[in-house]
Amino acid sequence: MPMIKSEEVLQFIVGTPEDSRRLDRLATELGIDSLILMENASLAVFRVLRQMYNLSETNVLVVAGIGNNGGDALGLARKLYVEGYNVKTVIVGDPDNYRYPAKVNYKIVKNLNMEVNTIHSTHDIPLFKDLLEWSDVVVDGLLGIGINRDVRGVYSEIISLINTSGKDVISIDIPSGVGGADGKIYGSAIRAKATVVMGILKIGNLIYPGAEYNGKLYISRLSYSSPLIKSIDIRQYVNLPVNFPRRREESHKGDYGKLLTIGGAINYYGAPLFSTYAFLKSGGGYARLATLEEVIKVVAGKAPEIVFHPLTMNSEGAISSENIDKILDLIEMYRIDILIVGPGLSRSEDTLSLVRELLLKTNKPVILDGDGLYAIKDDLEIISRRDGQTILTPHKIEFTRVFGLEMDYVDENRIAVLRDISSRTKSIIVFKGAHTLIGYPNGDIFINLTGNPGMATAGSGDVLNGVIASSYGLGLRLGDAVKAGVFLHGLAGDIAANELGMDGFTSWDLLMYLPKAVKLFREKYREVIDRYLPEVVL
Ligand SMILES: NC(=O)c1ccc[n+]([C@@H]2O[C@H](COP(=O)([O-])OP(=O)(O)OC[C@H]3O[C@@H](n4cnc5c(N)ncnc54)[C@H](OP(=O)(O)O)[C@@H]3O)[C@@H](O)[C@H]2O)c1
Repeated sequence: MPMIKSEEVLQFIVGTPEDSRRLDRLATELGIDSLILMENASLAVFRVLRQMYNLSETNVLVVAGIGNNGGDALGLARKLYVEGYNVKTVIVGDPDNYRYPAKVNYKIVKNLNMEVNTIHSTHDIPLFKDLLEWSDVVVDGLLGIGINRDVRGVYSEIISLINTSGKDVISIDIPSGVGGADGKIYGSAIRAKATVVMGILKIGNLIYPGAEYNGKLYISRLSYSSPLIKSIDIRQYVNLPVNFPRRREESHKGDYGKLLTIGGAINYYGAPLFSTYAFLKSGGGYARLATLEEVIKVVAGKAPEIVFHPLTMNSEGAISSENIDKILDLIEMYRIDILIVGPGLSRSEDTLSLVRELLLKTNKPVILDGDGLYAIKDDLEIISRRDGQTILTPHKIEFTRVFGLEMDYVDENRIAVLRDISSRTKSIIVFKGAHTLIGYPNGDIFINLTGNPGMATAGSGDVLNGVIASSYGLGLRLGDAVKAGVFLHGLAGDIAANELGMDGFTSWDLLMYLPKAVKLFREKYREVIDRYLPEVVL
């Protein structure tokens, strides 16, 4: 079974614009002049265009800003011209502002007497409209990772005209208007059909809202070698999970993990069921659910494969703190490997005190989710004081409330905040959302690319807990199980969306697609991983 090599993981690191600039500087120190990098960039876009279109029958409009992103675009325009293809170029801004190496490409296109138009202000918009009308494909080299303010005036008008033209747009490095460091939209942004990323993926290519603007992603290494990339200690990666060890012929259910879920309260029946059943539907061995008798009565018939353990209820209709010894006995008696604590637990203070006590009294790995997360809200230290490993799986609202942060602050500093809290609490944190982020105590952050908006449905996060637990049960180390679980959860959602459509598939459907997702992952591992990775171009 082909696995992902560490070398490849390195190829899909995800950096900031500053990381890119550092790589450029280091490459230059090795004698790889920035003009060589620019030529590499121009040729990469040329190759993608040639792959996507019959260029002999395609009118290409190259739109260049006056930074190096524009320089890449001018190099491409020159290549198209030299090869005899139909190309027109438009520079937005004052070409006198070009600096090396973009300045060299500007000089060449002038010397070649290519058609180069210049747009200085909104008065020139009619000219731009004519050029747009002529084109079949637009190449966007207006703004790259050097964007530093909202787009206004002529830039904003041009972006809007391109977006409403219905023409295919290929962006260079990052769609103009998207922030490379954070995926923020600076006023407005180009919606591309494809984006050719230069050197390394940028955070803005992968996190939302920016991630929605790329279209298909391509990546060119330019002339960055692996040692060069390694030398700058970038700690963000695309989530490329390892595959499971195979199921042995002679094995029994105890070999694939023993889960105990603690969750549920009056009126919260579904969540603990989804988590526990997801464990079984994704290959886990033995699933137990400790919950209120009232919950068992409602859900037991839905999933008779689960073993239920009744717990007593407190006056708030939630699991009473008096159950602590019973839960510890269950862990001991059934040799539980991993716990899921929190789905549908309610925020009864008595129940949350039980969660705190349990966290400190068991050394088993705990996946803490939903209401369970609120148990640590006022004392995050509990997690770092534990003897066992902890995985927290908050969505954005839980993340801000449990860690006491403002929503806007989290939006703008997602990666930094996740890294900080993961290392402070010494826990693995799965920050759920579109392109879920996984933070590790050592500072590594993995960006997951599976999943779709159809998964924004009640119970979807509960399912995730079970898939992480089963990945552990199937033999992965805990850190790897989190990555595999997050990937597979999204993969099951993508298969469900493909077969049912995104509207209206429920978490129950998601459960039903888990076996198919695990099968695909096991048997067509490389193909499945590649489906989500940017295509590498020379
Ligand atoms: N060595 C290379 O050749 C090489 C290597 C890798 C990548 N690249 C390419 O170069 C790009 C980075 O080049 P760069 O640093 O020159 O940045 P850039 O993204 O090409 O643009 C920088 C220019 O845009 C202006 N600008 C920033 N925000 C603006 C806004 N909202 N509206 C209008 N103008 C705005 C800046 O003006 P102010 O000066 O006024 O702020 C500056 O002139 C990458 O994205 C990549 O495509 C080149």
